[in-house]
Parts: sequence; C-alpha cells; structure tokens
Amino acid sequence: MVDLTTTYLTLRLRHPFMNGASPLADHLDRARRLEDAGASAIVLRSLFEEQITMARTGRIGHMDPADPEFARRLEAFPTADRYAFGPEDYLEHVRRLKTALGVPIIASLNGMTTESWLSFARQIEQAGADALELNLYQLVADPARSSLSIESGIRDVVGTLRRTLRMPLAVKLPVFLTAPAHFARELDRAGADGLILFNRVYHPVIDIETSTLQPHVELSSATELLTRLAWLPILRRLVNTSLAVSGGVDAPEDGIRAILAGADAVQMVSAIVRRGEGHFGVMRDALADWLDRKGFRSVAEARGTIGTPAVDAVELVERAGYLNTLQSGLNVKPPIQTR
Ligand SMILES: Cc1cc2nc3c(=O)[nH]c(=O)nc-3n(C[C@H](O)[C@H](O)[C@H](O)COP(=O)(O)O)c2cc1C
Repeated sequence: MVDLTTTYLTLRLRHPFMNGASPLADHLDRARRLEDAGASAIVLRSLFEEQITMARTGRIGHMDPADPEFARRLEAFPTADRYAFGPEDYLEHVRRLKTALGVPIIASLNGMTTESWLSFARQIEQAGADALELNLYQLVADPARSSLSIESGIRDVVGTLRRTLRMPLAVKLPVFLTAPAHFARELDRAGADGLILFNRVYHPVIDIETSTLQPHVELSSATELLTRLAWLPILRRLVNTSLAVSGGVDAPEDGIRAILAGADAVQMVSAIVRRGEGHFGVMRDALADWLDRKGFRSVAEARGTIGTPAVDAVELVERAGYLNTLQSGLNVKPPIQTR
C-alpha cells in the first residue's frame, strides 16, 4: 500500500486532491457528497471585503451606495441579496460543515485593503475553520501605482492577519506578476503558510451585437496547467510554504504532473463540475496505481522529483528552451489533451 498522505498548511490530508474555492460546497448535502466521494479537504467560496464593509458600515470602499455622489460608481456591485452567503451566514456555514464533516474546511476571504474588514478573519477562525485562503484580486489601472506598492499592500494584509490569527493562511497568487519568485518569498517572510498557483481571472466578454460587456465564467482547460507546472519547481526551491495548484487539473495525469512538479495539494473545481464528485476517487486511485507502478512508496517520495536547476541556472535553461521552441518552425502541436 502506497502512502498517499500529504501535509498542506500544516494540515494532514488523506491525499492531495481537494475541492477548490467555489459554490460546490454551498450546501451541506453536496459538501457531504464531496467528502464521501473522496475530497481530502474543502475550500469554501470566498466572502468579499465589500460584503463585510456593507454589512458593518453600509459602505463599499468608504462610499455609501445610497449617496447620489457615489451611486453611479457603485451601482454595478451586487446587492446583499445576490450573494450566496452574508457574513453571518458564512460563519454559520463554517460551523455547520465543521460539525457534520471530518475533512478540513478552509474558508476564503477576497478583498484588497489592510483595513478593519480583515478582523472578520478572527470570526472565521472562531467559527472553526481549519485554515484561511486569501484571494487578493484587484485590477489596478492607476498608472501612479507601481507593482511594488501593490505587492507591498498584499504582503501587509498577510502580515496583519498572521499577527492576529492562529489558523494557517494561504495566498492565491495572482497569475500576472513581473517577479513571482521575489513576491512568493516576500509572502513566505510575511508569514504565509501556503501559496496557491494561481488565481484565475474572469474578464467579461464583449457582446458584438449590443457592444456591451457581459459577465463570463468559463471552466478551465488543461493548457492553463502549464504555467502552474512551470512555476512550481522554481518556487519549491525558494519558499518554505506549502504549495498548491489551482487551474487546469482535469485528468489523473494532470494531478500526477502537479505532484512531480512539487505540489503538496491539488485543488479542483472545473473537473468536478464537469465530471461530478466521484472524480476525486478516480484521481486518488490513479495516483496510487501510478506511484505503485513507478516504485514510489509515498506521495512524499514522488513530490518534486521533476526538479529544476538552481536559481541562477533556471533563467538560462528557460530562455534556451524558449529559443529552441520558437525555432521549431510551424510544426506546431495541438493543445495538450490529457483526456
Ligand atoms: C463557478 C466558480 C466559482 C468560483 N468561486 C471562487 C471563489 O469564490 N473564490 C476563489 O478564490 N476562487 C473561485 N473560483 C476559482 C476556483 O477556485 C479555481 O481557482 C479555478 O476554477 C481554477 O481551477 P479549476 O481549473 O480546477 O477550475 C471559482 C471558480 C468557478 C468556476
């Protein structure tokens, strides 16, 4: 019997495949089905800074939506009734899942500032969450703000939470960073226990009939995994945090690749939406078979074996690979199909 256990954010998991942040665990019965089908942990959908500040102060970004001065700027935000959970419901949901399920429950906060809304994390901890995931997505269009100032803001959120919380803290890294290695190390130093590669951005599409922007959610494809797999071995060498993959894991081969590249945990959403909860068991069993076939006794033994050159060499290797790839002419392969 191979040992599939893994440690993620100091939590001991039965195997690496967990349910990623999404509405999949919005209802107790579905969450129970995820656990029964083999999900090793459950990440809840995010609760947003805007929801917390609206509930506490009636404001978003210090602006009152009822004030005519700000009404137009804030009109696109969802009204309280359009969110699946208000802040109090979210806490209740954490308590309910913790009572009913045995797998770790990871809450998710989604916001931008280091302001007082962050104190809500303490309430999530008191509700019993095993860990907290932070999604600090923002689109910064202000040319006066440098990448350094934005990254310092995110690092400060992590530092602030680290000082107030006991539960482990993970950060879903933005996919667009000029220097991911530097930023990952900064977050490690600020006290993050885990990094998730990467956050996925949902841009609206342009409707060419109406010339309007329409909200758009698309399930991921296996091609997205490649960026994650490229960065995992590099970050593995640089940080002491746990590393998880989110984005593009669909078939068992994808999960195995993530382990080989150095992932402690593998989050899945699109694959579960497409294939149902039973896919967790398929992923787990296929990993066990593969480890056995390759002579590994545990996930820990296989993790990161793809390796990467030392930091000073990896840039040259990557650049050389890039040059070689673009010299291969028009003999271009179709997107990878792992199914
Ligand atoms: C319908 C839907 C809702 C999501 N909600 C959240 C969320 O609340 N918070 C978050 O951090 N990510 C959210 N995500 C992103 C997923 O957690 C995940 O990062 C993304 O789907 C890529 O992983 P996948 O390829 O396994 O789907 C959501 C994704 C989908 C499809």
